[in-house]
Parts: sequence; structure tokens; C-alpha cells
Amino acid sequence: MRLKDALTRGAARLATANVPSSRLNAETLLMFALAVDRAYLYAHPERELTQDEVARLDEALVQRGGGVPAQYITGHQEFWGLDLIVTSAVLIPRPETEHVVETVLRHAAAADLRAPSILDVGTGSGCIALALAGELRHARVHACDLSPEALEIARANAARLQLDERIEFRSSDLLSAYSAAEPFDFIVCNPPYVAERDAHTVEAQVRRFEPHMAVFAGETGLEIYRRLIPQASARLRHGGWLVMEIGHGMEPDVRALLGTWQNISTTLDLQSIPRVVAAQGNESC
Ligand SMILES: C[S@@+](CC[C@H](N)C(=O)[O-])C[C@H]1O[C@@H](n2cnc3c(N)ncnc32)[C@H](O)[C@@H]1O
Repeated sequence: MRLKDALTRGAARLATANVPSSRLNAETLLMFALAVDRAYLYAHPERELTQDEVARLDEALVQRGGGVPAQYITGHQEFWGLDLIVTSAVLIPRPETEHVVETVLRHAAAADLRAPSILDVGTGSGCIALALAGELRHARVHACDLSPEALEIARANAARLQLDERIEFRSSDLLSAYSAAEPFDFIVCNPPYVAERDAHTVEAQVRRFEPHMAVFAGETGLEIYRRLIPQASARLRHGGWLVMEIGHGMEPDVRALLGTWQNISTTLDLQSIPRVVAAQGNESC
């Protein structure tokens, strides 16, 4: 089969299986099956696929048609310009989470903090910690997760990106493995924030394939914020920042949970949805 025919047929198969953006998905899977980039697809439309390549593409199309996210099939997702390994043990990093990274960089620059200490809570693939370690070359970066499988992926990503010497990974239920004696300049977190009762509003692909503990927080969705905020106040340096991603419509509740924290600000995502809340701890927190 020629490459251009494989692409047309693949896109048609995915469209029949109701996969959105079927052409784009077919391209991604074809690049994966052939281990080539997009430029190659366009440069070699007449190239004949080998039997192995056809079989690999077929398997990928079956999986994608069954709802498996393309990133779990190819094993990769880009975040902050970094190529990250992803498996079904970790949440697929989302573009809106890059606002967490931006917010930290903005506050670090404003305070002229060149070597801040940072803790990424619920690191998953390691995306936030890795982006920050890459940007802030003198930062002391820590990252934790409750899932041992996620920590394994985060460590593998750090090693691939040669950032493993810069990040200390730990298994921890929120901040329980960290002592108040070693306070941080930044505590960042993209927690699970979907309420169990809202499970029906979540895309089937997310519900079926992404880790439950990475997506769902509890009955209300605020459970992790409720535990994290007081824990963070005890482990931030005076004037340090807590930077959290929030779910749609959660801003008022999260601000209320922050109570007497200082300089609370919200960053909107590209859809103008409040997406990141940052607040500065003080001794009275
Ligand atoms: C929404 S995912 C975020 C992953 C990654 N930081 C990102 O932005 O793509 C939430 C992560 O928190 C972890 N997690 C859930 N409950 C936790 C807890 N109590 N303590 C530490 N990590 C937890 C999950 O395993 C998951 O990796």
C-alpha cells in the first residue's frame, strides 16, 4: 500500500469510528508506524509501506478506533517544547498546564529569584517539574506523587532529558514526606479536580483511559485543594508562592479556601477560563 493511500484509508477508518480530527489522528499514527516525521509523510506520498509497517499501523488504528488516546499509542506528548514519554500510568499533559509554568517563571523573575526551591506535587509525567528545571537552571527542584507507576515515568522522562541530577523525586501523599524545616519558594500543583458526581461530564476517552486518581478528586472536586492549602502554608518560605491549576468554575471556591493568603491572582487560559491561582503565603497563613 502507498503512503498516501494508507493515510486516506486510515482517516476514513477513524472517521467511521467517530474519532474527532480523523485526518490528523491518522497522520500521527502513520508517523508512529513508520517512525518518521510529518515532513516525511508529505515528501514521500508514493512510498510503499512494508508488511510490518502496515501491521503496526493497523494495530494503532484499531486501538485509536477503540478510544485509546493517540498519546498512549505513540507513547509521547509534547509539553513546554519537551518530548515526554507517557503511558496509561500518567495523565497526558495538557497545554493549559503550561500556564502553571508561566506563572512560576513570572513570579520568580519579579522577585529576582535565580535559584528558587520548587516542589511539584502530583508530578505525573513530571511535565511541570521538568519544564521548570529546564528554564531555571539553578533551581532546586523536587517532585512527588502518590502513584509509584507515575513516579517511574517521571524519573524516566528526567533521565531522557538529562534533568535527573536536577530533580529529587519522592513518593508522598501531598506534602506528608516533606519537613517544614526545609521550606520551598514555590509549591506548584495540578491536582485531580473533577468531582466524582461530575464523572458523566468528562470525555469518555479520559474516563476510560486516564488514571482515575489523576482525574478525580472526591465527591466535590475540591478535596485535594482543601488538604493541600494548609499543608503548603506550613512548608513555604515567608513570601513563597503556592501555584495551582484549577478546574472550570472553581475559582471562587479555591479563593475562599485560601482565606488570608496574600496577593491572590488568577491566570486565564487561552479560552479565557480561570485556570491558575497563585497566592503568597505569610506567617499568618
Ligand atoms: C491532574 S494529574 C497532574 C499530573 C501532572 N502534574 C500534569 O500536570 O500533567 C494529578 C497527579 O496527582 C497525583 N496524585 C493524586 N492524589 C495525590 C496525592 N494525595 N498525593 C500526591 N499525588 C497525588 C496523581 O497520581 C497524578 O499524577
